[in-house]
Amino acid sequence: MDLGLEGRKAIVCASSRGLGKACALALAQAGCDLVINGRDEKTLDATAAELKRAGVTVTAVLADVSTPDGQKQLLAACPEPDILVNNNGGPPHRDFRQLDRQAILDGVTQNMVTPIELIKAVIDGMVARGFGRIVNITSTSVYKPIAGLDLSSGARAGLTSFLAGIARTVAKDNVTINNILPGAFDTDRLRNGIRFGAEKSGVAPEDEAEKRMAEIPAGRFGTPDEFGNACAFLCSSHAGYITGQNLIIDGGAYRSAF
Ligand SMILES: NC(=O)c1ccc[n+]([C@@H]2O[C@H](COP(=O)([O-])OP(=O)(O)OC[C@H]3O[C@@H](n4cnc5c(N)ncnc54)[C@H](OP(=O)(O)O)[C@@H]3O)[C@@H](O)[C@H]2O)c1
Repeated sequence: MDLGLEGRKAIVCASSRGLGKACALALAQAGCDLVINGRDEKTLDATAAELKRAGVTVTAVLADVSTPDGQKQLLAACPEPDILVNNNGGPPHRDFRQLDRQAILDGVTQNMVTPIELIKAVIDGMVARGFGRIVNITSTSVYKPIAGLDLSSGARAGLTSFLAGIARTVAKDNVTINNILPGAFDTDRLRNGIRFGAEKSGVAPEDEAEKRMAEIPAGRFGTPDEFGNACAFLCSSHAGYITGQNLIIDGGAYRSAF
C-alpha cells in the first residue's frame, strides 16, 4: 500500500534503537524525511546511516528529549513537521516505595510532560497546513498494571487522558493524535527486563523468555518491524479518520472483548 507520505517530514523521538527506530525505518521506507534522536552518538550515527539507505534525508539529533534544550534542538532540525512520534525511555522497574519526589517528577516529565510540550510546539503548524499525525508510544501498562512500572503506567495514563480531548479539537483540520500500546516487543529494553526477571527467580534468561512467550496468545514476542509498520499506517494519508485511539499491539495478551 502506498501510504501517501512521500516527502513528508517526521520527528521521531528516542529512535536510535528499538521501537522508535522501527517507526523511523517504516516512515523512511514510505518516503519521509526524518529527524531521529538518541543520547549515544555511535548508535545514533549508525542508525542514521541505515535509514539513509532508503533514499531520504535523515538528521540525527544527539540529545535527551526530556530536556528543554533537547526539544529545542529537535524542533530546530525540523520546525514544521508533518509527523511527530513521541517516544522516550521508560523509568526502571522499582517498588513505588523506593521512589522519592524527584524520581516521580522525572518519570512524569519523561512520559507525560515531554510529549505534551512537543505537541504544543507543533500542533498549530499542523492545523494551519491541514495535515498532522501525532503518535505516542505508551504501553499496555496503561490498561493492565505491571508490577514495578507504576510510575510509567501512571504518567502514560495521564498523557492519554490529557490528549483525549485535544485530539477532538484538531480532528477537523486533518490532524490526528493516537497512542500505540506495545505489549512485549523484542528490543533491548525487553531483553534487559528478561535478564532482570531471570536473575530474580534464579533461572536462565532463555527459560524466562520462554515462560513469558508462553503467556502470550501469539506464542512469541512482537518484532519491532510489526510495530513500526502499524505506526506508519497511523501516520499515513489513509488514517485521517482515526483519532484519539489507543491501539494495543500485544499478540492478544490483554484479554478483553473490547
Ligand atoms: N519493548 C517493549 O516490549 C515495550 C513494552 C511496553 C512499553 N515499551 C515502551 O516503549 C518505549 C520504547 O521501548 P524500547 O523497547 O524501544 O526501548 P529500547 O530498546 O531501550 O530503546 C530506547 C530508545 O530510546 C532512546 N532513548 C532513551 N531515553 C532517551 C532520552 N531521554 N532521550 C533521547 N533518546 C532516548 C534510546 O537511545 P539512548 O539510550 O542512546 O538515548 C533508544 O534509542 C519505552 O518507553 C518503553 O517503556 C516498550
